[in-house]
Amino acid sequence: MSFQFSPLAPASLHRDVSGTPFSERYGDIYHSRQGAIEQARHIFLNGNGLPDRWRGRSSFTVCETGFGLGRNFLALWQAWRLDPQRSRRLHVVSFEAHPFAAKDMLEAARDLPSDLRILARQLAAAWPLLLPGVHRLEFDAGRVSLTLFFGRIEQMASEAQAAVDAFFLDGFAPQKNPEMWSRTLFGQLVRLGRPGATAATWCVNGEVRRALRDSGFIVSKAPGFGGKREMTQAVLRPGLGWAKETRRDGRVLIVGAGPAGAAAAHALALRGRESLVVDPAVTLGRGGSHRGHLAAALTPLISRDDDQRSRLSRAGVLRALGRWQSLPEAARPKRVGTIELLADVSQEALRRSTLQTLAFPKEWVEWLDADEVSRRVGIALNQPGTFFAHGQLVRPEPLLEALLGNPLTQCHAGRIANLQREGDGWVARSTAGESFEAAYVVLANSTEAASLLSTCFDLHKLPKLKSGWRLAGQVSHFQVSDAGLDPATILSAEGYFLPALQGVNVAGGTYVAEAAESRVTMQGHRAIAQQLAGILKKDTANVLQWLDKSGGWAGWRAVVGGRLPVIGQVHGLDDIWLSCAFGSRGLTWAPLAADLLAATLEGEPLPLERSLQRAVAPR
Ligand SMILES: Cc1cc2nc3c(=O)[nH]c(=O)nc-3n(C[C@H](O)[C@H](O)[C@H](O)COP(=O)(O)OP(=O)(O)OC[C@H]3O[C@@H](n4cnc5c(N)ncnc54)[C@H](O)[C@@H]3O)c2cc1C
Ligand SMILES: C[S@@+](CC[C@H](N)C(=O)[O-])C[C@H]1O[C@@H](n2cnc3c(N)ncnc32)[C@H](O)[C@@H]1O
Repeated sequence: MSFQFSPLAPASLHRDVSGTPFSERYGDIYHSRQGAIEQARHIFLNGNGLPDRWRGRSSFTVCETGFGLGRNFLALWQAWRLDPQRSRRLHVVSFEAHPFAAKDMLEAARDLPSDLRILARQLAAAWPLLLPGVHRLEFDAGRVSLTLFFGRIEQMASEAQAAVDAFFLDGFAPQKNPEMWSRTLFGQLVRLGRPGATAATWCVNGEVRRALRDSGFIVSKAPGFGGKREMTQAVLRPGLGWAKETRRDGRVLIVGAGPAGAAAAHALALRGRESLVVDPAVTLGRGGSHRGHLAAALTPLISRDDDQRSRLSRAGVLRALGRWQSLPEAARPKRVGTIELLADVSQEALRRSTLQTLAFPKEWVEWLDADEVSRRVGIALNQPGTFFAHGQLVRPEPLLEALLGNPLTQCHAGRIANLQREGDGWVARSTAGESFEAAYVVLANSTEAASLLSTCFDLHKLPKLKSGWRLAGQVSHFQVSDAGLDPATILSAEGYFLPALQGVNVAGGTYVAEAAESRVTMQGHRAIAQQLAGILKKDTANVLQWLDKSGGWAGWRAVVGGRLPVIGQVHGLDDIWLSCAFGSRGLTWAPLAADLLAATLEGEPLPLERSLQRAVAPR
């Protein structure tokens, strides 16, 4: 099913005569005039049996139908923090079609008591750009997660995947906002609920209560709040709910220590899970698989219809920001921005209209005229372009070292030759005759994932993976600062050109099909110099003179039809995961693939829409 793109329509902050936040769009207030926090505590917390119900649990998941100013979330988060018997983790999933800007969230927080204002400031500081899709925020060292679905709940509810214990039903009044109280929506909530999940709302509208009942809840009334006599409480009917327990203990074996494997180990370690990463390249150190790969680029894609690749790349870049900006300096991707120059000026009108249709904030992507491009790049390029402020310059080797540097991650030099199920888990044997036991296996070994999987699984069942291919390629190293041509941003056109790191500029790249080996060649340097000459409007011969003595770096790209990555459990072998086919965008897909894997293993709400999960699932 294709995803219907509709731009986000952000909210603006208004107040009614009593000072209560008010929506002009819906003609309704955001919470009771008797107080948002008091309402949250009475209706949503008490109404769902909290804090009692999370006590002694390893995790507890709440799903809310309208995030608004996040008052319910703040009250919930505060109650959880104050409870010494709280669950180890708290996950919150919330939907919002009209998010506020961070500055409005802060402004609205001024009327909160000081302890909540502190939390509100943390929320505002982590608040995402107003881009459609899923945003994952984390607080309290990752023990609290907030998975925000920005978009209309009519589309987004079916995109969520979580095992929910309590629902906070908080749309505007049903007459003004029927989509938030529909049977279709309640059907989706039942799909998300765990057995025994509860729901609570201030709303006692007869039709809403009937819809809840018909969808599978047992509905009752309780004393209301703020002058309202009653409120609604509900519990899932016995036999209904998401009973599958996804979390299982045990070590994870990760085959491959490139971006896919290293990011997976990191995401697991952040959740307290041990992994063993096996790769022959780690004889050269934890970053060994990308030894000599000085710099790479990480940039989102856009398309007029916000297609799957664009949505996934946005999710990947957002995950990289969420996950990797807290790494040590040397490993942390640098947000230098990317300028995409047009191959052909005739495309300008189309590109501008795409940007208009998408209506993304300019902090994410904007059109720059030729003067502005030259100013930001620091080189007179005389060409307009698209600027992606979150384009990042990455040093793959230190990044991998940091991702694999957690004490819960063990690295071992070896090549896995086959996999075999034994009892509840798996045994992997290396070409040197070693064997490794694990509860789960992640195949993050790129071009070799399919052949390794074929040692324990009939690959005919996964035609997309089976028919995948590999492309060799190189980047070249130049020194252009003496010529005054070191760009301040990533430049992307026919080929790409990166800002200097330690005096060396990386430019790429070549794509060689059906190559027997991948290595740096003079032919490759010439092809890249030609692309770079096109970007800088210089002679190729001139550019070749700037080649650095370190030459370049060569590697492989694994690709499958459709050019999406392959991420997910192998159907029928649920404890084997694939995280491969990253093509030319491994640094974008890796953090997303890793969090998807780790969140699934830990039974957390998933940080990606289901339609995108299906698109990347092994098939
Ligand atoms: C020239 C070039 C430039 C690139 N530039 C960029 C860029 O700027 N930005 C970007 O995002 N991407 C870029 N890429 C793509 C990026 O390098 C890949 O997408 C990324 O490396 C894929 O990560 P991976 O972990 O899946 O695979 P890899 O990085 O290839 O790692 C796979 C690892 O698996 C190991 N392995 C294989 N088989 C086994 C086995 N049986 N047992 C144990 N270990 C095994 C290998 O030794 C290897 O270390 C570039 C690629 C090339 C070739
Ligand atoms: C009553 S307010 C929620 C208040 C919020 N729970 C809080 O604690 O601040 C209802 C929210 O639902 C959102 N909303 C309305 N219709 C929606 C829809 N179709 N999809 C998603 N969100 C919607 C509104 O923008 C608004 O923020």
